[in-house]
Amino acid sequence: MSRVLLGVTGSVAATRTPALVAALLAAGHEVKVVATTPALYFFDADALPPGTLHTDATEWPGDRYARGDAVQHVVLRGWAEVFAVAPVDANTLAKLAVGLCDNALTCVWRAWDATRPVVLAPAMNTLMWQHPFTRRHLRSLGADFGATHVPGHLADDLMMQQINDRAKGFRIVPPVVKELACGDTGTGAMAEVPDIVAAVEAMLAGGSAAGDR
Ligand SMILES: Cc1cc2nc3c(=O)[nH]c(=O)nc-3n(C[C@H](O)[C@H](O)[C@H](O)COP(=O)(O)O)c2cc1C
Repeated sequence: MSRVLLGVTGSVAATRTPALVAALLAAGHEVKVVATTPALYFFDADALPPGTLHTDATEWPGDRYARGDAVQHVVLRGWAEVFAVAPVDANTLAKLAVGLCDNALTCVWRAWDATRPVVLAPAMNTLMWQHPFTRRHLRSLGADFGATHVPGHLADDLMMQQINDRAKGFRIVPPVVKELACGDTGTGAMAEVPDIVAAVEAMLAGGSAAGDR
């Protein structure tokens, strides 16, 4: 049983947040969720167990900071043994890659203890996925975790596999091909819930199967 912090961003795939939380709980983990404001458009907060959900609203409570008040993103990163951002949308992926921290979720990432593992499950429209920024951001993030010198010309699958093989404590759960909510068909749908749970558990186990997908 481990403490899993699930980051949720503003992708249609955030509709699966209750299912993902339920699957992690069923696997015996404790779960907290930190969601961006756009993410909240996609799922019913009341579908999560009480006390699970953390947001920008709960990061900035009351009228004014008082000395001694808890700083939510620091508390969350101290609590969590693994941070899985699923779905990670194009916007947040870009922020993580360059270190922007303008909301609770990205502050957790920026304040993260690098000895603890992280998992990213991208989800976006196919053309967003194919945009050069996406692989630039994934390669950059992989390099932050030790996956340096991953060639830029590799096909997506090979690139992600090399990043997963070489990075320490960092795992990409590749998106899958599907008819997307926007009507386009192609790569970009978030991986299935059991695959994300498996990736989280592999990283908690030490990430020795980092290349398995
Ligand atoms: C209905 C709808 C669905 C969206 N789905 C996605 C998506 O699957 N992936 C993505 O990268 N952006 C998607 N977006 C755009 C993001 O919500 C937008 O970039 C937002 O600013 C992301 O903010 P966040 O990263 O702070 O959650 C969607 C927007 C809307 C209105």
